[in-house]
Amino acid sequence: MLKTPPKLQSYPFVGQLPGVWKDPLRFFVEAATHGRVVQLDLGPSRFYLIHHPDDVKYVLQDNQKNFVKAYDPIKPLFGDGLLTSNGEKWLRHRRLMQPAFHRTQIAQMAGVMTAATETMLARWAAQPTGKPLEISSEMMLLTQTIIVRTMFSTDVSANAERIGAAFDYLLAYFNRFLFSPIHIPLDWPTPANRRFKRERDFITQTVYAILADRRRSGRQEADLLSMLLAAREEGDGRGLSDEEIRDEIITIFLAGHETTATLLSWTWYVLSRQPQILSRLEDELARVLSGRTPTFDDLPRLTYTRLVLDETLRLYPPAWMFVRTAVADDELGGYHVPAGASIFLSPYVTHRLPEFWPEPETFDPERFRPEAVEARHKLAYFPFAAGPRKCIGDQFALVEATLLLATIAQRYRLKAVPGYRVRPTPLATLRPRPGLLMTLEKR
Ligand code: HEM
Repeated sequence: MLKTPPKLQSYPFVGQLPGVWKDPLRFFVEAATHGRVVQLDLGPSRFYLIHHPDDVKYVLQDNQKNFVKAYDPIKPLFGDGLLTSNGEKWLRHRRLMQPAFHRTQIAQMAGVMTAATETMLARWAAQPTGKPLEISSEMMLLTQTIIVRTMFSTDVSANAERIGAAFDYLLAYFNRFLFSPIHIPLDWPTPANRRFKRERDFITQTVYAILADRRRSGRQEADLLSMLLAAREEGDGRGLSDEEIRDEIITIFLAGHETTATLLSWTWYVLSRQPQILSRLEDELARVLSGRTPTFDDLPRLTYTRLVLDETLRLYPPAWMFVRTAVADDELGGYHVPAGASIFLSPYVTHRLPEFWPEPETFDPERFRPEAVEARHKLAYFPFAAGPRKCIGDQFALVEATLLLATIAQRYRLKAVPGYRVRPTPLATLRPRPGLLMTLEKR
């Protein structure tokens, strides 16, 4: 007979919700100290929080077939893309899409990434000196421009902003949907629902028009859309339908733009508080690049830049929490977990376990030197998840973040506005709130 996991003290009806509402991050870090698996009652729903790397490995890798995604509630919004689908459909799409995210393909997109950054820097240069800028919005706009261009190349250059705005509305709607206690069905004609459908239809029409044009002309571009269009199954040569491509394009936008922007925002935040780390980073950039714009080939030599990003992903993982549902009864960390149980996995919590991360709140890029990584449990760190459902865009994100950080940090030092307080706020991603007001110092 296996034990039942410990349960925290809770209030009638609402369970532990008051603690979550008050300070969600602190709540989950503290909850994890009560046992290897902890039962949480959040309103009418019961969840099981796990944090030990062995259990993370079991759920995401060793017995991943028993722990599936139950993201059906969001399918009416965004269709059935890679992030939400399960089983055969997911496997087929993952196989078809994997080559588009290979490093050789991402190498071709590096130029788009740095060009968009240079355009942003030209805009910054025209700003009045000393005027604070809200850096997290700047990073969002930059990664949005990059994802739109890497998906559609030049086909949307005339209305890239309009497309960006449509995607942004979908993202804002999604954030509201995730954190709203009541869900108004999408069929109800509220102003928000009508606007959501209008924006989604606009994206659908744009994607379909580009697909039709590319099919007609046979034109190939080095962008994600062409890769999805060309993808074929090995056996039957079957590809993705227009609707499936539309769903995947929306998925890639949602999964691949706010996450990277958030990583960069937190990086500016930590660097502004750690002058000695910033100056080591600047030394590396000067040594490797001597003022020129970085290229994909420079990446292996930007080792310290990468360590800084790895450590930022540890302390501020954009995907701070995700969920799996147990298909059948199972055992986790010596406890019984019933079929249907929702399992919370939180990189934010695991990345702070003192057992694996001495002085967990200290920002120290040296933790990611190869020897240190080798000596640590592999699953003590999982900002991109792990196993078959690991983020398909992890290399894309790391290449993008390294190039952007290197390009910007060579030209500007970003300084925190004195007295301005920033708090990590767990929305769909772990955002800096109320924003990141910083001044730019030309280097
Ligand atoms: C710092 C940036 C990023 C972080 C921290 C991140 C993190 C994650 C995590 C934790 C998952 C697993 C979610 C779950 O299991 O519920 C995931 C899945 C996914 N991510 Fe990312 N991601 C990032 C950037 C990107 C980018 C740039 C793209 C695309 C261009 C992308 C596309 C996806 C997709 C399509 C999935 C679903 C994969 C599957 O289930 O097969 N992500 N990501």
